[in-house]
Amino acid sequence: MTATIHGTDQHSGANANDTKHWTRAFSQNTKRWQQFAQEIDFSTLRLDAHLVDSIKVFQLGECSEGRTLKALAASYAQRHDNPDYLLAIQQFIKEEQRHAYYMAEALRANDVEPIAKQWSDGLFRKVRQLCGWEMMISVLLTAEVIAIAYYSTLAKASSDPQAKRLFERILQDEATHLQFHGEHLRCDRASKTSIRRRLHRLFHWLVIALVWVEHRQVLTYQFSSFSQFFKRCDALLLTTLT
Ligand SMILES: [Fe+2]
Ligand SMILES: [Fe+2]
Repeated sequence: MTATIHGTDQHSGANANDTKHWTRAFSQNTKRWQQFAQEIDFSTLRLDAHLVDSIKVFQLGECSEGRTLKALAASYAQRHDNPDYLLAIQQFIKEEQRHAYYMAEALRANDVEPIAKQWSDGLFRKVRQLCGWEMMISVLLTAEVIAIAYYSTLAKASSDPQAKRLFERILQDEATHLQFHGEHLRCDRASKTSIRRRLHRLFHWLVIALVWVEHRQVLTYQFSSFSQFFKRCDALLLTTLT
């Protein structure tokens, strides 16, 4: 069955043909970003001062070489006879690095140096290093859900039109990433017990709570309460995985 990049076909399998669609989609997106970057003048992009501390943490979260993920993707690709999967993961990592790069540009344009360490980011990285492919993709799915809720809020909360455009552009990628990982995880989980799903959901809830505690000053621009934020993030995960 053909992959539906933004679609809702719940039975799409992550076969080799489907993965090839993703590699093409990522390549096309690289070209779109080249165009987008030419249209933004980062030297005049203004970040609202009250958003900066939170943006610094998310910028750090976008920085990763993805060594563990690449190794897990290589063995997944071999196991499923799907060499394009490794390429797609490499392209995905480049997209996240692109977000990190342009967010750093935006911070520096506002005389703010990006940070190199932060406790919740460190914790998230540790969890990712501990796991196998399924857990890694589960953790990434949660990260994508949070990113969607966060960047859509930043786009709303930013007063500068260029900053708004940057966050909306990143948001588009995060929505695509959610579909990409969701499609592959759905296929892999089809034959497994529901205990893994429950554990993932529990982890997801925990991360939602931690992110709210740390970034609620920003998130309240879009979500009037923790309950609203929680419901949105939980629903995003459920619709991606069912
Ligand atoms: Fe990202
Ligand atoms: Fe992402």
